[in-house]
Amino acid sequence: MLLKGHPACRNVLSRLLGWPGFGMSCSGTGRGSYGWQRPRRGIHTSCPRSTMMPSWVIDHYGNNDVLRFTETMPLPIIHYPNEVIIKVHAAGLNPIDISMRSGYGASALDMKRDPIRIKTAGSEFPMTLGRDVSGVVMECGLSVKYFRPGDEVWAAISPWKQGTLAEFVVASVNEVSRKPRNLSHIQAASMPYVGLTAWSALKDVGGLNQDNCSNKRVLIIGASGGVGTFAIQLLKAWGAHVTAICSQDASALVERLGADAVIDYKSGSMKEQLQKLPKFDFILDSIGGSTEGWAPGLLNKWSGAKYITLVTPFLVNIDRLGVADGMIRNAMTFGAKSLKYLCTGIHYHWAFFSSNGPSLDEIAELVDAEKIKPVIDQVFPFSDVPNAFEKMERGHARGKTVINVFNKK
Ligand SMILES: NC(=O)c1ccc[n+]([C@@H]2O[C@H](COP(=O)([O-])OP(=O)(O)OC[C@H]3O[C@@H](n4cnc5c(N)ncnc54)[C@H](OP(=O)(O)O)[C@@H]3O)[C@@H](O)[C@H]2O)c1
Repeated sequence: MLLKGHPACRNVLSRLLGWPGFGMSCSGTGRGSYGWQRPRRGIHTSCPRSTMMPSWVIDHYGNNDVLRFTETMPLPIIHYPNEVIIKVHAAGLNPIDISMRSGYGASALDMKRDPIRIKTAGSEFPMTLGRDVSGVVMECGLSVKYFRPGDEVWAAISPWKQGTLAEFVVASVNEVSRKPRNLSHIQAASMPYVGLTAWSALKDVGGLNQDNCSNKRVLIIGASGGVGTFAIQLLKAWGAHVTAICSQDASALVERLGADAVIDYKSGSMKEQLQKLPKFDFILDSIGGSTEGWAPGLLNKWSGAKYITLVTPFLVNIDRLGVADGMIRNAMTFGAKSLKYLCTGIHYHWAFFSSNGPSLDEIAELVDAEKIKPVIDQVFPFSDVPNAFEKMERGHARGKTVINVFNKK
């Protein structure tokens, strides 16, 4: 299923060589632009001579007031030969954008940020948030063979990089994938981050796939949000039996997406209802907190059943304790919990979003086959990003919030 010669494979050499500050255009006249020069912009560029672009940035961490619109963010530059510049047509928002705006993960992410950018700017600011993008490739680094300028692509950009709430964003090719043909940019921007998170949790960590799900009973806690609505569809595409936990007003939505059983967590009798059901083989928990206390008890013990949570203290521990102590605390917390659950016959795991073009290729196939559809809660214009953040922060998502950055379709 994976495309042969995907850039994730072909760019290994250039990543190992890691030539910083070396980039070469493959658009326009074909003459390369090396080193620190600004990339030449192709014919799709709205303002070819501009060296600035519109962007939403933050200059320090805080509440929604820190969001600032500027038309003078420098155009991004290709620093590495495996990078592409994407013109952003639409950008999806995720809870991590709200958290990062407030400083979540800053200590760990700072270590991963591009030292060239930090050195140039003097700090991680101005920082552009937004992880999801659907757009068009404008410029390719020297070693990029898989994409060409003009390709329609989608991606979820790693959180230590500049984000997608801007006219242009730089991504490495192993983060990028061709956009599903049957989706608009708005629809496509709603999926990569939540899709890759669900993929990582269910497939990479949980070991589920299209060949082993037909006899599996899966419980999704937090089924009505971005991750949940994607996970229901992925699991149904793989043939699993899905029980979804959500608010009563979201039950029609999750049933439409294929959930076989729906439990209202506000009904008061949720735990009794769940205990009456046959035991589960797998739980995906995107709510965390007190759910860890009772949900694992719903699993089939001593049968390889897995409890996978997306809500972990991983970055918070590093923020609070520093890298070394934070990692020790993470290892101790995870080790103690997994041992405790293992003694009761359950496998306990943490799962994380992972930016991954090849996985997005596989997701695109499922989307093209109409096995997974976008679930969009609300679309905001680019001028309205602060309201989109406020909406996200109020919670109660029913699918995804998307920003129309430059979308004509
Ligand atoms: N580990 C990682 O790398 C990773 C990656 C992605 C996401 N996450 C985390 O996973 C969580 C979900 O992400 P998301 O993008 O799906 O968020 P989201 O789109 O905001 O959705 C959250 C959903 O959960 C529902 N909900 C709230 N309390 C609930 C409860 N007790 N039981 C069942 N449903 C409940 C909300 O609706 P109602 O309040 O109306 O019920 C909402 O529909 C977030 O905490 C996020 O930070 C982690």
